[in-house]
Formats: sequence, C-alpha cells, structure tokens
Amino acid sequence: MIEIAIDGTAASGKGTLGKKLSNKYSFPYLDTGMLYRKVAHDLIKNKITNSKNLEKNCCDFAKKLTFKELKNENLRSEDVAKFASKIATFSSLRNILDEKQKEFNDLNKKQFGGCILDGRDIGTKILPNADFKFFITASLEVRAKRRLLEKNISFLHENDEKCMLHNLMNDMRERDKLDINRKSSPLAPAKDAYIIDTSLITAQELFLKVTNI
Ligand code: CDP
Repeated sequence: MIEIAIDGTAASGKGTLGKKLSNKYSFPYLDTGMLYRKVAHDLIKNKITNSKNLEKNCCDFAKKLTFKELKNENLRSEDVAKFASKIATFSSLRNILDEKQKEFNDLNKKQFGGCILDGRDIGTKILPNADFKFFITASLEVRAKRRLLEKNISFLHENDEKCMLHNLMNDMRERDKLDINRKSSPLAPAKDAYIIDTSLITAQELFLKVTNI
C-alpha cells in the first residue's frame, strides 16, 4: 500500500500534482486545505469570526465536518484562505482535522492500495512514514500569477491586473509567514522529502519529474 505526501507553499502546484497522480495511479486524493477552508467558511458564514470562543467554535464545526460537503461549496476564495490560515494555528482544531485526514488515508489505502494527501504537515505529521514525500514550492510572484490565472477572469485592465497581483502577493506572503512560523505543525519539508521548485517548470514537467521518482 502506497502513501504519497505532498506539502508546500500556497499555489505552488501541489493540488494539480495531487490530482494528476490520482488519475495516473487511481489512488484517492485529498486536498487537506479544504478541511481548514470549510471550517473557516462556516465561521464566516455564521458571522462568528470575532468570537471570544473562536477556538472552541472552530472545533465544533470541525467535528461535524463531512468529506461530501467539501465538494458542495465554493471554498477557493482568498478571504476564506486567509481566515483558514489564521485558525490553522489552533492545535485543538488541528487534532480534530488530523484524525479525519488519517481516517481518509487508512480507509482508502485499504480499498484502493494507495492514497495521496496534500497540505502543509502531511510528510511531517499526518503521514510520517509515507513512501514518497514531496515538498513543492515556487517564487512568490510565479505563485501569485498562477492564482490569478485560476480565477479565470476574461478581461482585465492592465492596472487592475497589477493591483490584483499585488494584493494576491501580499495575502500569500502573509499566509506563508503564518504557516511557517506557527507553533503547531508549521509548514516545513520533511527530512526525507524531495524538494522541488516549480518556478521555471510547467505542471506537466513537475508531474513527469515526480512519476520518474
Ligand atoms: O490552495 P492553497 O495552497 O492556497 O491553500 P490550502 O492548501 O487550501 O490551505 C489553506 C490554509 O489552510 C493554509 O494557508 C494553511 O494555513 C492551512 N492548512 C494547514 O494548516 N494544514 C494543512 N494540512 C492544509 C492547510
């Protein structure tokens, strides 16, 4: 049974890699960021982002979370990502979501012979004995440009594009900083991870590199 752990910075290409590997090897894939995004989204929707009991509120939503719901809602906005990164510093929330990720892995590994998880602490915390660990990164500018392209906006005035790119770079810089510096499971490559910088390579080139490994 094969476990594949993918970690890395925001918009580095982790998700595209995870999906491509999942298609090639028919192993289920979980984007674990969606769990944090879902909890953040529920708090925003219920207008309790400034609650005094924020950590407890997060845990209450996390306990109720099911994988099915992740597909139903639009969780990809930068506002949701920003708040997800803030609440991802709570260790009690991380403990609840860690268990869900491990359950997903155990179940699917048995059923399909393998499983692929992407996130920030997969190789270091969730799957410390994974067969393959990858840490994917790229320059901040390249990552912000990719995120802008994902938004699929058909026509943008040059100045609006510059402004959006600038905002995205600021948001992602802040998020990386929070993720790298938090006490509980900070973003870091596992000692035995292959570290790949995707600044100058395409998603397909990354995929080929990884499948060769
Ligand atoms: O897609 P992107 O890389 O921009 O973000 P994401 O993977 O959806 O994660 C959103 C946020 O959730 C991250 O900035 C982290 O703070 C948090 N996260 C985490 O702490 N641990 C994970 N395993 C996955 C996400």
